Amino acid sequence: MKAIAITPGTPGTHLVELQEPDIRTANDVKVRVLSVGICGTDRQEVGGGRADAPEGAQELVIGHEMLGRVIGIGSSVTRVAVGDHAVFTVRRGCGACASCRMQRSDMCQTGKYRERGIKGLDGYQTGFVVDRDEYVVRVPCELASIAVLTEPLSIVEKAIDTAQRVQIARAPEAAVAADWLAGRRALVAGLGPVGLLAAMALALRGAEVYGLDVVDAGSARPRWLEAIGGRYIDGRTVPAARVADVVAPMDLVVEAAGIARLEFNLLDALALNGICVLTSIPGGDRPLQIPGAEIVRRLVLGNQLLLGSVNAARGHFEMAVRDLAHAALRWPGHVAQLIHHTPIAGAARALANTETGMIKDVIDWSDA
Ligand code: BGC
Repeated sequence: MKAIAITPGTPGTHLVELQEPDIRTANDVKVRVLSVGICGTDRQEVGGGRADAPEGAQELVIGHEMLGRVIGIGSSVTRVAVGDHAVFTVRRGCGACASCRMQRSDMCQTGKYRERGIKGLDGYQTGFVVDRDEYVVRVPCELASIAVLTEPLSIVEKAIDTAQRVQIARAPEAAVAADWLAGRRALVAGLGPVGLLAAMALALRGAEVYGLDVVDAGSARPRWLEAIGGRYIDGRTVPAARVADVVAPMDLVVEAAGIARLEFNLLDALALNGICVLTSIPGGDRPLQIPGAEIVRRLVLGNQLLLGSVNAARGHFEMAVRDLAHAALRWPGHVAQLIHHTPIAGAARALANTETGMIKDVIDWSDA
């Protein structure tokens, strides 16, 4: 079977020929890959950035946002049946820390976790994948056209769920509200696929959603946002630092832009007691000048929180599947507009493209 591989640390991709994996244990699930999304992490890897080959190997098969169809299961598998649509999670725990032993490798305490397609384990940009039952999440077949978004949405689900739990733990009025987000103002910064999915998840929870980007108001991303009830803020006229004054202070900020300076500027948009969750991993190592004392002063005097959130647990994948189902009912056909299918022959170009707009490029493996 074919697979898209990189040599970590070296720019570029190549197609490799690999042995098709087989079910070996009673817990194994074998999936025929249908499609695999491309995100900023893949593009960083392909550019020679953060990535590790499996131990003893020179190459890494990339891809971590997959959707497949189950074609075989071991005798103890309970979560899926042959014929089901399914996705595999990304992270595999270190096996040593309490988080990983409790199936929460997304909160690994040793840092010795591995991630399929990113860190020490081959990924999903290939024809067939075998992994264990505990890492598979079933997807209803009605969601087949959009379920490749489950993994990026799982990242957002973890970020929002964590922020919500933290607020409920510390704010007296949040603890007694049925849903902390309902009626709250939430700002999403960066309206790429992850930002738009965040806006969608927030809208489904009843938040008053704002989206910040630097594109024309009439262009595709603001229009997609507005169709789900969000309000667009053009960062060229209202920069992050002015949002609180010009629009309103935000109870929650979800950052999905991958620009380090903006990540700090977003703190200015926060309301008192607000929380800002960072989900993107900015590339580059250019030093940044920030008004450190002012930022700390504001955080302390405002009871504000700056929170980093990475990866997602099974439960977040399940939340993502539920949200995709709700979104499909509420805004029929709208979510699919985020996806652009590319044949394997176009993969290198799609992976090299850094001007991605709102579109989630997805490599089609269905007739590989
Ligand atoms: C992936 C996460 C992963 C993170 C860090 C993201 O692009 O979606 O699953 O944990 O990169 O490697």
